[in-house]
Order: sequence, then C-alpha cells, then structure tokens
Amino acid sequence: MTVALIVAAGSGERLGAGQPKALVELAGRPLLQWSIDALLEVSGIERVIVALPAGVALPCGADGCADADAGERVFAVEGGATRSQSVRLALDAAGASPAQAHARREGESDLVLVHDAARPLVSAALAETVIAALAHEPEADAAIAAVPVTDTIKRVDTAGAVLETLDRSELWAVQTPQVFRRLALERALDVPVQELARATDDAGLLERSGSRVIVVRASEENLKVTTPLDLRVAELLLAGRSRSPGEQRNDLPNPA
Ligand code: CTP
Ligand code: MG
Repeated sequence: MTVALIVAAGSGERLGAGQPKALVELAGRPLLQWSIDALLEVSGIERVIVALPAGVALPCGADGCADADAGERVFAVEGGATRSQSVRLALDAAGASPAQAHARREGESDLVLVHDAARPLVSAALAETVIAALAHEPEADAAIAAVPVTDTIKRVDTAGAVLETLDRSELWAVQTPQVFRRLALERALDVPVQELARATDDAGLLERSGSRVIVVRASEENLKVTTPLDLRVAELLLAGRSRSPGEQRNDLPNPA
C-alpha cells in the first residue's frame, strides 16, 4: 500500500501571485487540485496527505473533488519552514493504517510517494510507472521521475569563469513524484533541520547514506510551475489535454 504526500506549503514568492502558489488558479481550478485529483486516480494509493501553509485549508470542497469519497482519502497538515520539513511533517501525520501495520509485521515495506504541488501536470500513469519501477527493483530504496538533460551544462565559478563542461549523457533533471520505501525515507529525514533545509529533493538525502535510487523516464510535460511563464505554459498544456482526453496517460516518450 502506498501513501502519497503532496507538499504545498511554499509561499510561491517567484510566482508573485500575492497568495500561496497552491491556491493560484490554473485552467479553472486551484493549482493543488490538479495533483490531488491525479494521485487519487492511482491504484494502490490509499491516502493523500497535503502539507499546506499555516491557516490555509484544502481547496477540495469549495471547488468540488474528483471523486465522491475524496474527502475521506485527503488530509491536510501544516507544513514547515522548508520543503523537506514539510515532507517530514506530512509523513509524521501519515501514520500507519491497519493494513500497513500488518505489512510491516510481515517484513514488507510500505511505499511513500512524495510529490510537489508545483507540478500540476503529473499524471496518474506517471505515478503508477514510478511505483511499479520501485516494486520491481528490490535492491533500490527509491525510484524518481526524471528526464535526460537536453542543454549542455557547465560548472561555473563565482567569477563567472567556466570550470568544466559536464558529460551530458550522464545528466538527468529530476522531478516528482519520487517513491520511497517508507523506512528508508523515515531514516533519511531523521537529520537536523539545517541538513533538511539544504536538501532540494528527498532522494538526495537517501543517496548520501548510500541508498540505491533509480530514475524513471518521465515527460518534460511534467513541468514545475515556478514563474508566471511556467503558469502560462501549464495553462496551454492543460488546454491541449482537454481537447484530447486520455492522451496524457501514456505520453512517456523514449529518450531522443
Ligand atoms: N514547499 C513546502 N514547504 C515549504 C517550501 C516549499 O511544502 N516550506 C513545497 C512547495 O509548495 C512546492 C514544492 O515544495 O510545491 C517545491 O517548492 P517551490 O517550487 O520552491 O515552491 P515555493 O517555495 O512555494 O516557491 P518559491 O520558492 O518561489 O517561494
Ligand atoms: Mg521554494
């Protein structure tokens, strides 16, 4: 069984919308709602825990939820000062269902899927692919959505001089969803808050302790909304989806 955590407790400073990014309207619904609805469709996800800014309520209800029983599967918690702290607080709140507690007694691992609300174009198909990848790789503690980098990437010093050109064939741009064996994620997050603050993704915290993390080829369409331009691109992509329903479920192209 899998529990999904959506981190949505950021302020969205770079978007500059004057309200938390999670609540900003995107193609007629709050940005956060797109991720909630996609993850509720995923087979095997029993609950969705959403980390929200203090004083902010789930948009679900005001706008209507995707399924009738969504209210019983979606819970909110107050997030933390940094992204990783929000992940930790959501995981603390996730608890263990009777089925999960039983699975643990049997020695099986529960899975935890972590997703950024800032990626509203996530599809249920992508989440299912990442969950399946981890399930098929017993040696790995995490599977993460990622795309091969298409730009040439250089390391540059503080004076603006190039130090080196990295080998692009080895570079992947990492996204969410990221799926973890629950005990490995709990251990990785059990570090001082300063260390959590430095982490830009959760898989990075596991890598440091030598865990095996595998990438799963995702789509560039699963973009992160950071700036007003990203929001506009997301609007256009969602408009394209509504013209061709169903097409997004299998849109994971092979590497070029
Ligand atoms: N996030 C969170 N808690 C925080 C900071 C970030 O849950 N204290 C979440 C955001 O809501 C977002 C994801 O982490 O879904 C990625 O963060 P980012 O894109 O940087 O969003 P914001 O922090 O909201 O944006 P900005 O950095 O521009 O303020
Ligand atoms: Mg941020």
